[in-house]
Amino acid sequence: MVEEKIEDSEEKKSTPLGVHALKGGKKKTKEEEAEEEDKKLTDIPGIGPGTAAKLEAAGVYDLMGLAVLGPKELAEMAGLGEAAARKAIQAARQMMNLGFSDGLEFSEKRKSVGYITTGSKNLDNLLGGKGVETKSITEAFGAFGSGKTQLALALTVNVQLPLEQGGANGKAVFIDTEGTFRPERIRQLAVRYNANPDKVLKNILVARAFNSDHQILLLDKIAELIKNGEPIKLIVIDSLTAHFRAEFSGRGMLADRQQKMNKYLHNLMKLAESYNIAVYVTNQVMADPAQMFGDPTKAVGGNIVAHASTYRMYLRRGKKDSRVAKLIDSPNLPDNETVFQVETDGLHDVEID
Ligand SMILES: Nc1ncnc2c1ncn2[C@@H]1O[C@H](COP(=O)(O)OP(=O)(O)OP(=O)(O)O)[C@@H](O)[C@H]1O
Ligand SMILES: [Mg+2]
Repeated sequence: MVEEKIEDSEEKKSTPLGVHALKGGKKKTKEEEAEEEDKKLTDIPGIGPGTAAKLEAAGVYDLMGLAVLGPKELAEMAGLGEAAARKAIQAARQMMNLGFSDGLEFSEKRKSVGYITTGSKNLDNLLGGKGVETKSITEAFGAFGSGKTQLALALTVNVQLPLEQGGANGKAVFIDTEGTFRPERIRQLAVRYNANPDKVLKNILVARAFNSDHQILLLDKIAELIKNGEPIKLIVIDSLTAHFRAEFSGRGMLADRQQKMNKYLHNLMKLAESYNIAVYVTNQVMADPAQMFGDPTKAVGGNIVAHASTYRMYLRRGKKDSRVAKLIDSPNLPDNETVFQVETDGLHDVEID
């Protein structure tokens, strides 16, 4: 079944799902552009062309970009006073409620959403039932060895499955910032579906990103591939934050880093929505000295990453060889926890004995 499908997608260069998504995607991009043109930064009371120019120079281009900022961040970015920054953010958030589609329209839009199974039913359920969603960014953060990359690799295989097997009948792009992509590991994962490992590997387009600029540039390349008919249904970025963190590490560089990441995530979300693609990103944790109790770790990137990802999961090692995944701040699911384990052929539920 899998092999048939993979051959199919290689021959035609685009699966039915891919073609459909491409058409829908182009239409939606225009709509989106029109929508965005309607609402400019200067439409916010108190923001004149001068401040708008400052904001744009700081990487904030639209109401969404503004709405997700914290007052301190914005003040630092645009050289505004903190009170003025707070007012602008509040105004942006209020105005964004105006142009929204009604619930029925929204539910129609949601029908085109596709899913990619993680391999573990528990983990799929945590993410709403069927795994990682298209038109969304799913972020996994956690310590080293918590399973972030293992999930990434499993998804690049599972995305190739036909819809009825929990895939999206498409190809994967893997942006590798840490040199963690392992073809041998993909071969092991292919065994689960009796798939030809070479064919599975052919459907994963891997690019090593050497620095943050390179990582940003690769998004344009992905858009190009899609326009050329590659049926890409999954983009993995492992890790999203490592380069940004390493390159912008000084105290005064925080605003620069957030600005760049803000723009990057915005473009990533656009790609996901326009072409009906699932985006999975990994994120490191850092010690949070402000937190005295509980888990003393916090995702790198702070607010901006939190707002841009539709699903955020915190992964950690559990009892025996298990992994615990905790869902955080999902728009439509309760915060919840589940257990899975990493095996040679992929992610599985933990056997209860
Ligand atoms: N072939 C395999 N079979 C079973 N378990 C494996 C296999 N390969 C890796 N693992 C498990 O996955 C763990 C590594 O997890 P992973 O690489 O996803 O961590 P990570 O969260 O990406 O960490 P980092 O922050 O270092 O990138 C290993 O410690 C091991 O427990
Ligand atoms: Mg990793």
